[in-house]
Amino acid sequence: MSSLAARLKAETADMHRQAERGRFMAALLRGEVDRVGYCTYLRSLHVLYGALEPALVRHGAHPLIQPVLDPALARGDALAADLCTLHGESWADELAPQPAALRYAERLERVSGANPGRLLAHAYVRYLGDLSGGQVLRRIVAQAMGLPGGAGAPGTRFYWFGDAARTRELTLAFRSGLEAIDPDATQADEIVDEALGAFGLHQCLFEELSGVCGLAERPHAAAHTAAD
Ligand code: HEM
Repeated sequence: MSSLAARLKAETADMHRQAERGRFMAALLRGEVDRVGYCTYLRSLHVLYGALEPALVRHGAHPLIQPVLDPALARGDALAADLCTLHGESWADELAPQPAALRYAERLERVSGANPGRLLAHAYVRYLGDLSGGQVLRRIVAQAMGLPGGAGAPGTRFYWFGDAARTRELTLAFRSGLEAIDPDATQADEIVDEALGAFGLHQCLFEELSGVCGLAERPHAAAHTAAD
């Protein structure tokens, strides 16, 4: 029987590929998302993390969450700081989150109330994503937005966990926390299902952002969303 970590990686691989190659991420990777579009993205992420991080803390003693929980991973303050730099102090009033981000936050609230172990899936999708692909994006975003782009530079704090050694340390700690989790078969299926749902919700968010950013139209890919 595969470990939960191995199942998550294998069973979300297709959706990861789709996220990476989708219109929005591909444009971000090419440095083609302008500052307004990028701030809209960060505003939506702020809503997502604003629901995720307090929920993880609330359920910090849960056996499916405790092994991966580390305050050093928290992104909410870094997102707020980047929005202040890139948009201005009144970002929270002036920028509206995407409807898909609000739906994502609702999903997180529901999961937190009904089945908090499923939050592990969202921590996996977000934090390992930020620690991996996010590191590629940091320099690209800095260049595209005309920012200095050095260590922890204003405007790119979202991607900054510390230097490369620290980022690697946090990644390894998350991965070994994940390996240490020993869910029963039902819990493992639920977490994998929730991770697929999390990628599906991201796909919806990226589609909306593609529209907002005026990226070329393409048929909407079918999105998997976790069962309620
Ligand atoms: C710009 C687009 C992206 C790039 C270039 C990228 C790149 C990467 C890379 C290089 C890894 C490391 C793979 C490994 O260690 O074997 C990774 C892992 C991961 N990424 Fe992405 N990624 C992108 C977008 C995303 C998005 C949008 C999400 C989530 C919505 C995401 C979630 C993840 C997760 C959860 C992992 C860990 C997989 C595992 O080892 O279990 N990535 N990504």
